[in-house]
Amino acid sequence: MYVFDAIDPLREYLFNLKQTDTTIAFVPTMGALHNGHESLIKYAQTLADEVIVSIFLNPIQFAPNEDLQCYPRPLHDDKHLCKNLDVSALFLPSEATIYPSNSLLTQVTVPTLSTLYCGQSRPNFFQGVTNVVIRLFNIIQPHYSVFGEKDYQQFVIIKTCVQNLFLPITVYSVPTIRDSNGLALSSRNNYLSDTEKNEASSIYQSLCLVKEAVSNGIHDSLSLNRLIKNNLSDSIAIDYIAYVDADTLLPSQTIKKGNRVLFAGTLNQTRLIDNLAI
Ligand code: PAJ
Repeated sequence: MYVFDAIDPLREYLFNLKQTDTTIAFVPTMGALHNGHESLIKYAQTLADEVIVSIFLNPIQFAPNEDLQCYPRPLHDDKHLCKNLDVSALFLPSEATIYPSNSLLTQVTVPTLSTLYCGQSRPNFFQGVTNVVIRLFNIIQPHYSVFGEKDYQQFVIIKTCVQNLFLPITVYSVPTIRDSNGLALSSRNNYLSDTEKNEASSIYQSLCLVKEAVSNGIHDSLSLNRLIKNNLSDSIAIDYIAYVDADTLLPSQTIKKGNRVLFAGTLNQTRLIDNLAI
């Protein structure tokens, strides 16, 4: 596995691949890799000849009061996992490589979608995400890129961005990988004790009840919200529950099969998000 921290040698490597018509799939991450990331990498390997993974803890998508400082950084284990998965190359840029001085004078945003749902409590988050992902796309210029449904709003925002900017990249999503109790895997689960992980699994269980209720003919958000609140662990503070069109992410006027329910909440300072097709 090649490991690059600078752009020029990475580009030279990619240039050589493209000379031989090799296809490239790209999986951007912030590290602390788990089975969710692993499934993205494996899916990327079915799409293209070579898979590039980036690990970059993007400072501009964290607010000052968020967990950038304590975000897990097990780089040694991450490298090991990528090597074992036969990743072709790992890109580990520094902050100065991605954001040389004044480079943020150029920004890419998806204004409306970025202010909804997670964007309400994290106002600069999606702008941080689109700015880093577009930079990584421009550096790597992959044919394909793979994102997790776990971060559904992020996936739709990136897809929208790629479409509106005519980037020649096909964006794919893969289903959320979960613990045996249903809890969506997340690097932030490292902050949770076993008891808290159990409590957090009530999120997925509640979303499953919503799916079941919708298929049994319940379509009003008040009843569905009540169902979630009654089944959610008391230790979780709800940030939002939204029922949205799966493609546009706009709120559904009538909640129906094919929509998506989005959830965010906090458990003892740890932010947890999840969603489910209903
Ligand atoms: P990170 O949280 O490391 O996630 C990297 C990718 O893994 C994202 O596409 C995310 O949706 C996916 N992922 C995380 N948990 C998953 C799970 N349980 N099942 C399936 N996929 C999962 O998302 C980011 O990093 C950053 O915002 C990034 C896009 C890299 C930009 O900085």
